[in-house]
Amino acid sequence: MHERFDDGERPLEQAAMFLRNARRLAVLTGAGISAESGVPTFRGADGLWEGHRIEEVATPEAFQHNPKLVWRFYNQRRTNLKKVAPNPGHLALVELETAIFQPDDFTLITQNVDGLHREAGSRRLLELHGNIRRVRCTQCHDRLEVGLEQLAELPSCSKCRGLLRPDIVWFHEALPDDVWEEAALATAMCDVFMVVGTSAVVYPAAGLIHAAKRAGSKVIEINIARSDATDIADVCLLGPSGAILPALVRRLREAA
Ligand code: OAD
Repeated sequence: MHERFDDGERPLEQAAMFLRNARRLAVLTGAGISAESGVPTFRGADGLWEGHRIEEVATPEAFQHNPKLVWRFYNQRRTNLKKVAPNPGHLALVELETAIFQPDDFTLITQNVDGLHREAGSRRLLELHGNIRRVRCTQCHDRLEVGLEQLAELPSCSKCRGLLRPDIVWFHEALPDDVWEEAALATAMCDVFMVVGTSAVVYPAAGLIHAAKRAGSKVIEINIARSDATDIADVCLLGPSGAILPALVRRLREAA
């Protein structure tokens, strides 16, 4: 028996048909895919940015002005992540990559810094905004995987004693060139571009959706609500990604 979504079965079948006819798939995820794991999203009621001014915790200026406050915010987020695990939405993306598409024909582009896609087992993964489980030295720029271990209030580099920062992209900062170039290439090459759980308001990430559309890809959106991607999507699956993505994968497997 198939689950039914607000919009009924038709959009699910339409999305499955686009995927069956596709050779290359690129997927862009946002905070919504981790919502069912218990990670708060950014915008909307109870969002992470509620109660925090972005400029106070997520800009290089904020870090220069008050690094302790910024580290407290990110250490709290790191601690919260200890209690969460990938959900069926993350796992369905792994299945798409490993069991349905050829390894070189699938690219997962995420705006999330929570590391849950990696933990789920995604392989060809581009983390546009970095990863909260990694730090970077503000002096010697050395990068280090620290996982979710407890860090000092103001952690310092073991090599040069410089102040460490989370290895993530803040507002007013550029995305890492190599990651962005790979994301742009995967977007230009794909036949289907799937947008999952993002409000699609933060650029340049959201620009990939428009670039995919311009390049002639079919755009599939999965979201519990309308977003800035909805009007350009060819099909919208309205509902939680933790239910819709597994349903989509089941449908593709049935047809195989
Ligand atoms: P947002 O918080 O802006 O949007 C989350 C989206 O997920 C919304 O469109 C929700 O409707 C949707 N959503 C919530 N629960 C869902 C579920 N169970 N299934 C499917 N969709 C669901 O988060 P992002 O779009 O990821 O950047 O935000 C983009 C960037 O803005 C983030 O990477 C971060 C933030 O500021 C930086 O920190 C640089």
